[in-house]
Amino acid sequence: MATYQQSWQEWQADPEGFWAKAANAIVWSKPWTQVLDTSQPPFYRWFPGAETNTCYNCVDRHVDEGRGAQPALIYDSPVTDSIRTYSFSELQSEVARFAGVLASLQVTKGDRVVIYMPMIPETAIAMLACARIGAIHSVVFGGFAAEELAKRINDAAPKVILSASHGIEPGRVVDYKPLLDEAITLARSKPERCVVFQREGSSIRMKDDRDLDWQQAVDRAEPADCVPVAATDPLYILYTSGTTGVPKGVVRDNGGHMVALKWSMENIYGTRAGEVYWAASDVGWVVGHSYIVYAPLLNGNTTILFEGKPVGTPDAGVFWRVIEQHRVKTFFTAPTAFRVIKKEDPNGELLKNYDISCLRALFLAGERADPDTLQWAEQQLAVPVIDHWWQTETGWPQAANPLGLGLLPVKYGSATVPVPGFDIRVLDEHANTVPAGKTGALAIKLPLPPGCLQTLWRDDQRFIDSYLSEFPGYYATADAGLIDEDGYVHVMSRLDDVMNVAGHRLSTGGMEEVISNHQAVAECAVLGVKSAIKGQVPVGLAVLKAGAEISEEQLEKEVIAMIRHDIGAVASFKVLRVVKRLPKTRSGKVLRGTMRKIADGDPYPMPATIDDPRILDEIAGVLATVEVD
Ligand code: COA
Ligand code: AMP
Repeated sequence: MATYQQSWQEWQADPEGFWAKAANAIVWSKPWTQVLDTSQPPFYRWFPGAETNTCYNCVDRHVDEGRGAQPALIYDSPVTDSIRTYSFSELQSEVARFAGVLASLQVTKGDRVVIYMPMIPETAIAMLACARIGAIHSVVFGGFAAEELAKRINDAAPKVILSASHGIEPGRVVDYKPLLDEAITLARSKPERCVVFQREGSSIRMKDDRDLDWQQAVDRAEPADCVPVAATDPLYILYTSGTTGVPKGVVRDNGGHMVALKWSMENIYGTRAGEVYWAASDVGWVVGHSYIVYAPLLNGNTTILFEGKPVGTPDAGVFWRVIEQHRVKTFFTAPTAFRVIKKEDPNGELLKNYDISCLRALFLAGERADPDTLQWAEQQLAVPVIDHWWQTETGWPQAANPLGLGLLPVKYGSATVPVPGFDIRVLDEHANTVPAGKTGALAIKLPLPPGCLQTLWRDDQRFIDSYLSEFPGYYATADAGLIDEDGYVHVMSRLDDVMNVAGHRLSTGGMEEVISNHQAVAECAVLGVKSAIKGQVPVGLAVLKAGAEISEEQLEKEVIAMIRHDIGAVASFKVLRVVKRLPKTRSGKVLRGTMRKIADGDPYPMPATIDDPRILDEIAGVLATVEVD
């Protein structure tokens, strides 16, 4: 086994040789002509000339190699009180049949398919079926409402949308079908067909000329085989929040994506084929794409698709129950999940009811892992707890403590070291590297390794403007942080107007756009304020139009309803305060960063360009009345 140092040096000495070697772990139907095409910087393409199929590598390959009877996917759903296991052979036949459904709807290579579904096996089957026939899927998180779904439909212009009757949240059913219908009404781009999975107890209305019943379509379908696609062809588009309300369509390829994920399973997560791997996230987020669906299956692991919450389904012991019952070896979730468990069961009483000795390690990502939570998890689980840093854009971790290469000493508050492939630098505003230990903008030297975003869907210019123009030659992560004398990466906070609520990435700008639509609001700001449980939660500040007659309480109620309707419940928007004015620079830019520091009780320098410093005292007075936890 190589050590981290050896692996890092091997990559530095010959990056293309390093990734070509890793690529041998993937089955290709045609070899590449070049490992990396550097002819059109800042656009880089991995493994041009090669052909492959992601679904083949995730499913059929394992059947061909004798793993057909091994469980591939375990659906564990405390909210429906059911567990279902699919072997690789069963998964192959389900995926082939559903690929046949798509083919019967004339979905072919390059067509887009939007998937708006809950955490049920059909969602993973649908993703793999798209990959099987070379269609590009775009999964939209089920917690987003119609307006957000419509934005994604407009951008991706799908031929077909796949959905389900409803999702199940603790204590309530989320009817997806009316949201889907509303989104299609709102969208300029209309899908030709929708295929809707009716869950037990559903009584939804289908539109005759547009909607197909999932099960009936499957019953009629002929299985479809894997179609070779170019390594550089898109596998999926995943929309993520930027600083405005217009989401960014991150495009991931087929070939590089598989190479990176497979390498990560062995070297970062230290897993071996046949083991059970569980990422308790949602397929609507990048963690779900990479580490519920693609990476574990590529690696021949059994993956768990969990439809539940860390608490309340039925209690704070559910994670331990799942680990014991399915013999989970590697577990991955967001720190916020551990914070809610710790709140409900601080002494780990429920853990005493389960035998989790099968567990090798816990990985945390999605937001900063605060040392308290990390240490609590270490004490409770008695296994290594590994914080690692990544983004929707990179698709896999850019900094980690690489278990598969031998664990390095832990420094609490640090995501440990750069992963081979990621040349991480800390830059000042002039793109100069700052000395060790000094904070700056975290950036990654181009070219990015395999698996990272190729571009933004049909918007190369926005890709350049968003990520590549601030520091020429680098990808700007939009995170601030430092690298210390030992080379450890410490990620501090976002530099833009993106916040992280319970591991969910959301745009403050998007919420401001919704609030501004309220007829009484002249201007507003949304701040991501520290929360002991969710990491951050949004707090809105609104200035009323002259003459507007509405109480703060009523406005708050109406704005909460607007945000739930336009963005979705996942925004967790619960607090709005009316203020007389917002602090601004002399050029009129709202000082959101300063207000956020005030809300969090952090020290802040008086901005030199502020038009009237007294406003900050007024804002501090208002924010002092806000309780978020
Ligand atoms: N479909 C529909 N609604 C959803 C949803 C989904 N898939 N996911 C969340 N929501 C709703 C919730 O029901 C909730 O609605 P409410 O305001 O009516 O109660 C709202 O969105 C906020 O949800 P959430 O942020 O999940 O808060 P919560 O209080 O329900 O649960 C946690 C808090 C910490 C238990 C939960 O956020 C969690 O498990 N987080 C793990 C994070 C994670 O997996 N991140 C992915 C990156 S690794
Ligand atoms: P997402 O694109 O939803 O995965 O969110 C990515 C953002 O989450 C990053 O830009 C960081 O701000 C934050 N993040 C993810 N993992 C970590 C981590 N381990 N430490 C600190 N921040 C993290």
